[in-house]
This record gives sequence, C-alpha cells and structure tokens, in this order.
Amino acid sequence: MNTNVNTETNSHPLDRCSGVELDAAVALLKQSGNLSEEAYFANGFADEPDKEVVLGFKAGTPFERVIRLIGHDPQQKQSFDARVSLTKNELVQFLWIEDGQAAVTGVDVIKSIKLLHKNSDWLEAMSKRGIEDLSLVHVEPWVAGRRPEGMSANARAFSAIFFLHKELEDNHYARPVEGLIAHVDVDSDQVIIEDHGVVPIPEDDGEYAANRIQSLRQDLKPLEITQPEGPSFEVEGQVIKWQKWKMHVSVNPVEGLVLHDVRYDDDGKDRPILYRASLSDMVVPYGDSSPMHNWKHALDSGETNMGHGANSLSLGCDCLGEIYYFDNTILKANGEAQEVKNVICLHEEDYGVLWKHTNMMLEKPIPEVRRSRRLVVSCFHTVGNYEYGFYWYFYQDGTIQMEVKLTGHIGASVVPDGLGTDTSPMVAPMISSPIHQHLFCFRLDFNLDGAQNTVCETNVEALPVGPDNPLNSGFRAVTTPFKSESEAKREVDPRKSRSWKVINAAVRNQVDQPVGYKLLPQSSPVLLSGDESLPAKRGAFAKHNLWVTPYQSDELYADAGPFSNLHSGGAGLPAYTSKDRAIDDTDLVVWHTFGVTHVPRPEDWPIMPVEYAGFTLLPVGFFDQNPALDVPPPSKACHD
Ligand code: NI
Repeated sequence: MNTNVNTETNSHPLDRCSGVELDAAVALLKQSGNLSEEAYFANGFADEPDKEVVLGFKAGTPFERVIRLIGHDPQQKQSFDARVSLTKNELVQFLWIEDGQAAVTGVDVIKSIKLLHKNSDWLEAMSKRGIEDLSLVHVEPWVAGRRPEGMSANARAFSAIFFLHKELEDNHYARPVEGLIAHVDVDSDQVIIEDHGVVPIPEDDGEYAANRIQSLRQDLKPLEITQPEGPSFEVEGQVIKWQKWKMHVSVNPVEGLVLHDVRYDDDGKDRPILYRASLSDMVVPYGDSSPMHNWKHALDSGETNMGHGANSLSLGCDCLGEIYYFDNTILKANGEAQEVKNVICLHEEDYGVLWKHTNMMLEKPIPEVRRSRRLVVSCFHTVGNYEYGFYWYFYQDGTIQMEVKLTGHIGASVVPDGLGTDTSPMVAPMISSPIHQHLFCFRLDFNLDGAQNTVCETNVEALPVGPDNPLNSGFRAVTTPFKSESEAKREVDPRKSRSWKVINAAVRNQVDQPVGYKLLPQSSPVLLSGDESLPAKRGAFAKHNLWVTPYQSDELYADAGPFSNLHSGGAGLPAYTSKDRAIDDTDLVVWHTFGVTHVPRPEDWPIMPVEYAGFTLLPVGFFDQNPALDVPPPSKACHD
C-alpha cells in the first residue's frame, strides 16, 4: 500500500484527515500486531505538528503527517493511544493507557443493549414494571464516571438508564423508567442491576416533532435573506478570509470546532491574534441527590467525542442565507473512515448598528450610521439527550465572540405525588427535572502580535477618600499582571466589572500602551459540586473561571482529554499548574471556564428552548482607534 499520501492530499499541515489517510493509518497499526481482533476505535485524527512548523509553513513545503488513533481492546481490557507517521510509513508511538479509557463508541452502546436483553435480572426488572415489549424500551448507556460497586478496577463501565416508547417514533424522554439503573462492563460482560423500586411510568406524550404536534401556528410570513452578489467571504481549502480576518478551521473528534491561526490584516500589516481556540472539555454535574442522578457528571468532549456528534447541517434550517459548508472525516469504531457532510456552517449576518452619531449642530443633521456585519463559524452537536451549538462570531471592529447554544432534552425523574424539590423542581405532571450545570472550558492559545504575551486582571473599584477624590465620587480601573499559574486561578466578579486582558508588552499602540485583547466574561458560575466529590476531581477545570499556563505542545486538554472516560481525576489543569510555572511575557495559553447552572422550568419541557452562554474577546489598545471607520455607509439613502 502506498501510504505516502500527505503530499498528494494535504496542502496544509492543519488540514483534516482524508479517508485515504485514516485507512492507511489503521492498516499500519493493525499490521503492528499490538492489537487483538476485538479492538475497536474511538477516534482518529491528524496530530497537529509543532507550532514552529505550522507558523513557518510555506505552500509546497513537505511536512511529516502523523495520524493519532485512539481506541479500546477488550482482550487487553485497556485503551490505546497510537501515532502513525504516514510520511515515515511506520507506527511511531503505541501506549496502553493506565488511567482512563477511550470515549464511548457505538460498539459499547450496542454491546450494552445486547447484554441487557439476555440478562435475567434486567428482564425481571422490566417484567416487574409490566413492560412486555422490550423493543419499546430505549436503553441509554451513560458514561459511568466511576466503576460502580461490584465492578473490577479496570471495568469498561457504563450506567444505563431507560425510557419507554409507546411507539418507536415518539419522544421516549417523556416516559422515564424510574428507579432502575443497569451497570454494564462491556469488557467482561458483567451486568449489575440497581433497582430502587417500581414507580408508575407517566402517560403523557410530551411530543414536539412537527408531525406529532396537534396544530402549528399559521401566521408566519416568509423571511428570506438574499445576497445577490454572494457572500463577502472567501474560502480556500480550510482557510477563511472575510473583511480583514483570516483563519483556518477544522473539527476535531474530541474538541469539536477548532479555530487555528486567527489573524487580522491591519492596513496591510498581518497581525496574529490566536494560534488555536477550541472547547477543551466540559462537565455537566448534577446536583440532585436521587440515586438516579447523583452520579452523573458527563465530560461531554473527552468521554463522548463532541466532534463525532457534529450534525450534518441543512440550508434554511440550521443556517439562513448564503452558506458555505465544510465537511469532515471521522473514524468509525470498526476502523473505517466516514465522510460527514456540512459539519461547519459559514455565513454572514447583519448585526444591527455598528456605530452611529447624528451631528445635531448641522443645518441639515446627517446621521452617520454604519451597519454591523458579522461572520459566523458554527457547529451543532448532539450528545445523547442534549444539543450544543458552538458559534464563533467575528466583527468588523475587531471583536471575537463565542456563543454556546444549549438545547435538547432535560433529564427527568418520575414523581407520582407531584411534589418537586429544590434539587429537582416539577416541570410537567409527574415529572421533575434535576438541577445541574453545564460548564465549558475553552482553551485559548493566544499569539498576540507574537508569542511573548502576559495576562492581566482588571478590577474597577471606588477611589479611596482623599485629596484625589474630593467629591468621593471617583472610581478607577486597576490592572495587575499575573506572574505565575497559581495567581491566575480566578473567578468572575461582576461587582468589580472584572475582566482579563492578554497583552504584548513589546508592541505598543499610538498612546504607548501595550497592545491587548480583553477576555470579557459573562456572569458565570463555577463548579458547585463539593471539593471532595468525583466531579470536582474529574472536572477540576470548572473550579475556576480562569487558568493561565505557559504553552506546552502536549498540554491540550483541561482534563484527561481523549482518556477522560473513567479517569480517576487530577489530570489536565490541576496537574499542569501544580508546578506553579511563570506565565509572564511568555508563550501562554488562557483557559476560560463558563456556563450555566440550569434550574429546570416547565418551559424546558418537553424540549428546551435555546439557552445561551459565552464570552467575548475585545480589542483593547490593539488598534490605534476604532478600526471600523472605513466601513462604508449602508446605502446612499441613509445620507439623503
Ligand atoms: Ni441543562
């Protein structure tokens, strides 16, 4: 087999894997003899070369193409981490993972269901509940987070919960089978049934699909977005150019949407801002003490492959207007490559007023108004019962924004007495929903006018009483640079308008300030699970809204990353920052955890309207003045 494929199919070291490359890498790994016949794959993706290689890359320069293959071998009862160099045509790394396992795959789900269907304890638990037709039982194997009692220390454990269809097309989430959890070790075929007693199954349908809703509103007139001359962006390979922005985009199986090498053309000067930006991982801890929910704290990227859940998007549904779609290639559990169409949506949106002033002193006042337009780079992911949309926005004034959209099905408990609690409020007749959080940790590898950057914190506070503050009305912005990793573990504080700023002290603007970009957080919670809890150990990145680390090429994940599944905790940010390294005037990475504490409400049932979370990156002295003065007026009519 000719595996020397990089020069033929890749034009850039950050380009996505082709099916040919994945096939070649899998073949080389299989030939190595490290894996048994039963081994299966969780993901496969191009291993990004060193920063110097990427930043110094010139079109046509050869580069080493390495594919990372991650999976699980039931015979070994361990997961593996392999790197295959297609350039050298050899396996360059093979590791058995000691702590943690590869993400859940379709193989695990199907095996869990099969094991249950032939397990007498599970069949009895179903029969006790009067469930005769097992084809109507929806089995949902959850990432267990831990090895349930009675399982071996290396079990590939899943904890399955159940829902009952009336018919296969309906919304099974409306009818939870309360009180029953089945713990499955798919490596040893062990099944442990945890039965907390029979609870009636709700009768209500909780439908939301268009063909199952009684009536749809009739008063919506068409709303069409047209761009008769096409969009203002250009796409070449995976590189996007729009207005003065330039970036490379990809979808990683673990992290989902990744932005690379985000740059701004400032009057002909090519200025780097971010080397890489992505979701690193997220945690969804549940606060309800019910045994059905208290163990849940899903790490939706590392444990379940956020990127594999990326939907194929469709025009007029997910995105409106003139759309460009990027495709992706993923590795299926059986080792075959699969092309997924339309995973990244690229389009422009009108975003209201960019800036405006009317000079009322003129004889005929003319409003100077500019309309804002933003570039939207987005993905939408399904993770079990839930959906996450990740939207990067780029604006003409240099602002970058991340907006997460949360929707889908909330968790449910059956409460026949209709009495909710403060950890699980009622959302529908007989249904309460457990309180929980969604905490996202974004990894922002800054490259602000070069690698040597520093992070500062700004707090706005009242001036002390004194001669400088004669009316006692003054306040000031106090900015302090962080010197070490321990100093930079911080929380948001809206009372102080707290924000963080990445600066490059060696590059000054026209008023001699260091150029900077502010990380403007929203009013976001941190992890509420107790310090000694498993969520706090495994999702420790969520204990602080800010972390800063010096750049290390192997420090890509806030937790155990692709081996977060069943990892005992402590990996990622707690481990990286344990040395308390220096972080000033160096190549650094900012990690921002934000999200929502979700107290479910009736309006979240039977499907949840989008809730939003996110953050903004705002230029602060990066430009000499408003960089959007050259945006033309929207039309001549505005001036007449
Ligand atoms: Ni939620």
